[in-house]
Amino acid sequence: MAKKTQKRSSGSVRPASPGATSVEDEIARLSAEIERHDELYYRNDAPEISDADYDALRRRLTQLEDAHPELKRAGSPSEKVGSAPVAAFGKIAHDVPMLSLGNAFDDQDVVDFVQRVRRFLNLGESDELEITAEPKIDGLSISIRYEGGRLVQAATRGDGAEGENVTANVKTIKDIPHLLVGKDVPDVIDIRGEIYLGHKDFEKLNAAQAASGGKVFANPRNAAAGSLRQLDSSITAQRPLQFFAYAWGAASKLPSDTQRGVVAAFKSWGLPVNPLMEITRSPDELLDYYRGIESKRAKLDYDIDGVVYKVNRLDYQERLGFVSRSPRWAIAHKFAAERATTVLNKIDIQVGRTGALTPVAKLEPVTVGGVVVSNATLHNEDEISRKDIREGDTVVVQRAGDVIPQIVEVVLDKRPQHAAPYKFPAVCPICGSHAVRESDEEGNAADVVRRCTGGLVCGAQLKERLKHFVSRNAFDIEGLGGEKIEFFFETGRIKSAADIFTLEKRDQKSDEPLTKVRGFKETSVNKLFAAINARRTVPLDRFLFALGIRHIGETTAKDLAKAYGTFEALRAAVDAAIQGGKGSEAYQDIDNIEGIGETVVDALIDFFSEQHNQEQLDALLKEVNVTAFKRVQVSSPVTGKTVVFTGTLTKLTRNEAKAQAERLGAKVSGSVSKKTDYVVAGAEAGSKLDNARALGVIVLDEDGWLELIGKA
Ligand code: IVH
Repeated sequence: MAKKTQKRSSGSVRPASPGATSVEDEIARLSAEIERHDELYYRNDAPEISDADYDALRRRLTQLEDAHPELKRAGSPSEKVGSAPVAAFGKIAHDVPMLSLGNAFDDQDVVDFVQRVRRFLNLGESDELEITAEPKIDGLSISIRYEGGRLVQAATRGDGAEGENVTANVKTIKDIPHLLVGKDVPDVIDIRGEIYLGHKDFEKLNAAQAASGGKVFANPRNAAAGSLRQLDSSITAQRPLQFFAYAWGAASKLPSDTQRGVVAAFKSWGLPVNPLMEITRSPDELLDYYRGIESKRAKLDYDIDGVVYKVNRLDYQERLGFVSRSPRWAIAHKFAAERATTVLNKIDIQVGRTGALTPVAKLEPVTVGGVVVSNATLHNEDEISRKDIREGDTVVVQRAGDVIPQIVEVVLDKRPQHAAPYKFPAVCPICGSHAVRESDEEGNAADVVRRCTGGLVCGAQLKERLKHFVSRNAFDIEGLGGEKIEFFFETGRIKSAADIFTLEKRDQKSDEPLTKVRGFKETSVNKLFAAINARRTVPLDRFLFALGIRHIGETTAKDLAKAYGTFEALRAAVDAAIQGGKGSEAYQDIDNIEGIGETVVDALIDFFSEQHNQEQLDALLKEVNVTAFKRVQVSSPVTGKTVVFTGTLTKLTRNEAKAQAERLGAKVSGSVSKKTDYVVAGAEAGSKLDNARALGVIVLDEDGWLELIGKA
């Protein structure tokens, strides 16, 4: 029986077998387990089970406690929300506790909720009852206090009574105004709502985290929580957190007597509110709303895990009041967990643009939450061995929002007798080159990713590079997507980037022109050639990004383009660094560019050192014209000068100073060299100032700088 209990904590919740343990034991076990998951979720931002499974545990506990009130333990987790605040942040007691919501899991629960409310309020059949409906945002709740319209403090939910003081971090969130303006702003109000991270921003953040060896987050909620609970608020400031206001705590006066009216006032004061809130007047309308949102769910850029219904009239809300940890006037209608069980037929290894070997589970097609799933990501080899996933296994598949489906666990009871542990290949399945896990200098396996070492001899890498080359943020060639590249590559028509641009000429002389190929028609072929020709001129930053050099994403490509202006200048700079080697001044010069570090310099050197890459570049440059990075032409006393800021500035923030200098045409660098023209030193400037003096570079204080640029 102990086994069953174990199973629960790893994800699947089955109904408890009655009589197997005493009710008292089960309550104790459930309580301990819920507390452990609370800790994982609220403290460590690293949940082990889905919300649906967690809710099932809680539901079971409440059920048992309701049936056996004499067995309910003091301080039961069913009475609490969240977990106690961590010590590193100061604590803030909530004037009005931050409670949770009761849950509805099916249509009947919703009908019951409306009936309960009607009965409680003693409403007649013809009496109208308006209920607002809105998405339930899967982020983290926050309470933000405004006094005289000014943001004065912000706290997480914590255990509902007392949360963490995250004021400094919340102030860095662009969505959240520091000042509320407009009609009827109360003297004091605690605005409550949800902080979240959008899907696109989450993907970007994780890619950046992975590239820099930082923590990769399991989902946007964890990433938002991890971002908000940074002791260093400058880190929070770099994370594009967003906010929706949907409720309030203490308030000296309210601007309306309805839920919707108050939220409308929030909006008028400058707070972001969810645009999908609606008023409904019957259980049927609530259920229609729920289904509508469910079908929109995959298209939203943020995670939602259900919808929330609230009685609209505030006088009704007041009469209804609260039961234990949740209001009687509201309920959360949760989406069903999007999970299903199916057979994993085979593990395929895909090879990406940078040679990364990614295992993909080929599944017996199964419908998960209305979508047919036949592939699921297995992330990497460690993940496969951790979950001991084998070919032939029956597995539980989960789909969350529009995230790629994942394998939650293996159903061990159904494992075929001869299923062998999966052996991850040590050679590339496409080109046969060795596939290795890059290790750090001490030889530790630092990277979870195994990579093909075949480089340009690897067909898979070549093909993926071409797909990247034509993609939207690179050359953006209309009508030439992944599938077409696949076809042109496999038929030998396009093997390199330059081939894309010579395709038309070659096609004219070909024995089998495209117009004769099945699926192509004259108009579509002409359209394709026109789209290719339209991209013969490309801005430098896009060109650099398109090359697919490791560690050079869009931002880095822009930084390089800004610093060098032309491709020739960049190429010359990298050639010089190759000649000079690490530690040379030429190497240092690239490293000094704002936003560029050694990883990027090394990646550039690797790329340009490869003879084959140089040849491909020459061929490509015969076909395309790379335009210089557009800089607004400015002329100022610092145009073309290299400036280093160091120490604490008082009149400007460091970022403002940098942005201003760049606007005036200066190059801002992170370290001092002979090429530095000015060092602007604030208070407590350290080694950079010493270097400047040693090298005889002009040193200015903040006022001197402002005078130089005419802003004194
Ligand atoms: S209203 C008295 N509205 O869900 C409760 N909550 O499970 C007031 N949540 O703690 C909360 N979206 O963190 C409300 N539109 C929404 C919400 C929402 C997400 C969260 C919130 C709350 C939890 C309850």
